Amino acid sequence: TSRLALFKLVLLGESAVGKSSIVHRFVKNTFDDMRESTIGAAFLTQTVDVPEKEITVKFEIWDTAGQERYKSLVPMYYRGANAALCVYDITNEQLFERAKDWINELKKQAPEGIVICLVGNKLDLEQDRKVTQDQVTEYLESLDGSENIVLSAECSAKSGDGVLDIFNRIARALPLD
Ligand code: GTP
Ligand code: MG
Repeated sequence: TSRLALFKLVLLGESAVGKSSIVHRFVKNTFDDMRESTIGAAFLTQTVDVPEKEITVKFEIWDTAGQERYKSLVPMYYRGANAALCVYDITNEQLFERAKDWINELKKQAPEGIVICLVGNKLDLEQDRKVTQDQVTEYLESLDGSENIVLSAECSAKSGDGVLDIFNRIARALPLD
């Protein structure tokens, strides 16, 4: 019998990078090619088992809206968050820059100790890749000495590749004791 630990997780990133698609892949194991843009924010929950610590992590997930008109609402959702996914689309360098802006904002405004994961989505579009692993590595190195744990990952909400792995790694990076 494992203990249940609740953690609040928020997804940040520009519109259409695939935040909602990642959440739906994680929570329902489905994908929708015609997903509608999120209005305000959506709330979902899902659990991850961490058997080596006899803990089940329950994620309370806030999937924020990336459209400009909702930007002022976003701080409400990362306030009190234990973890954040800053999502970009690997086929668009500008969206990678925006994800870095979110990381900067979290470092200034989010709760101390928040676990951050920089997530490159749409890995199934490898042939159109514009953001390389080297760019990600270089960026993470530039953050060295930062207070926060910053992980990085790539995934495809469409194929499902890498999605569970993100949440498994975050669960293990959280303070579980
Ligand atoms: P907002 O709610 O507006 O902030 O957007 P979002 O970040 O939630 O994006 P959403 O999940 O709605 O996905 C946007 C579009 O990208 C949809 O048409 C998805 O089908 C598509 N998409 C999402 N993930 C992937 C992926 O991994 N690969 C591909 N090829 N398309 C994806
Ligand atoms: Mg959405």
